[in-house]
Amino acid sequence: MNSALQHDPQALLSVRGLTISFANEEQTRTVVQDIDLDIHKGMSLGIVGESGCGKSVTWMAILGLLGARAQIQGSARLAGQELLGLTDQELSTVRGGKIAMIFQDPASCLNPVHRIEKQLTESLALHRALFGAEARRVALDLLDRVEMPNAGQRLSAYPHELSGGMNQRVMIAMALAGQPELLVADEPTTALDATVQAQILDLLNQIRKDSGMALVLISHDLGVITEASEQVAVMYAGRIVEYMRTEHLFTHARHPYTNGLLGAMPSLEAEHSALKTIPGQVPQAGAHFKGCSFAPRCTEIRSICHDAVPALETANADQRVACHVARLS
Ligand SMILES: Nc1ncnc2c1ncn2[C@@H]1O[C@H](COP(=O)(O)OP(=O)(O)O)[C@@H](O)[C@H]1O
Ligand SMILES: [Mg+2]
Repeated sequence: MNSALQHDPQALLSVRGLTISFANEEQTRTVVQDIDLDIHKGMSLGIVGESGCGKSVTWMAILGLLGARAQIQGSARLAGQELLGLTDQELSTVRGGKIAMIFQDPASCLNPVHRIEKQLTESLALHRALFGAEARRVALDLLDRVEMPNAGQRLSAYPHELSGGMNQRVMIAMALAGQPELLVADEPTTALDATVQAQILDLLNQIRKDSGMALVLISHDLGVITEASEQVAVMYAGRIVEYMRTEHLFTHARHPYTNGLLGAMPSLEAEHSALKTIPGQVPQAGAHFKGCSFAPRCTEIRSICHDAVPALETANADQRVACHVARLS
């Protein structure tokens, strides 16, 4: 995709040319640049990249969750309606309603002094105007839907009485309270151990399939994305550098950064051997590059890589890559 392209009218959410900068007294740092994305009904998209690549701010900008210091350019249309530039009040029907977002640390998002029932019924009052016994009944249904063990008893529990995995189930239930068309889950399993992580990912996908809701899963961990997403967008230093079907990732990834992430994935056979890591670090946010921002870490570097930013070009019907070397080979 490239931002000169029109919005996709079929998409639930169509993002074009999203660019995000933060300004302070001294400088303006651009942390996300020229993101194009189309989210279709029911699809599951994984967004992967090392910490600091701009995964979270992309979605916070779309939902109007960045403060006034953020300068946001581009366009994000939800069923045709422009979201960027809406007021908090105008966004309130979108947030938690059409688009819900859950974060890494459920404990910090839940209110420690309120029982689970109160937190769920407040969401139901806000998003669906449900009150009293009916709200309680739907709250219980939601806990059942997120496969909360002993759901009836959990309604009267406080967050600190539940495990991390159970609190994440509560967060998912709260997100579902507004019957969203899109759920954005930002590192939803990062704080959980591996078994619980797998259960939560399965649950998110089961809900997606049952409800037709679209799911955007953000993770620094490619293993999480390959387990749970049909499409993958790889982000590096504020840009999408590769976009493809997850099932083709292991055989067809072309960007050296994607291949670096794949090489760094623990595999069963390699359990006892040292993990390969990508040498070097993600550049500082806002660092300016004349050429490819991955060039300082890339093993396949050519001279053109220092001279021009590679565009995200269509490699084939299912894949887009922003890499001079991949384009030349
Ligand atoms: N409110 C903010 N003010 C200034 N810089 C920010 C703010 N939020 C995020 N950033 C910067 O934007 C970059 C991308 O951050 P983020 O989207 O959180 O990365 P990721 O989610 O991929 O780990 C980081 O360098 C971060 O420091
Ligand atoms: Mg993040």
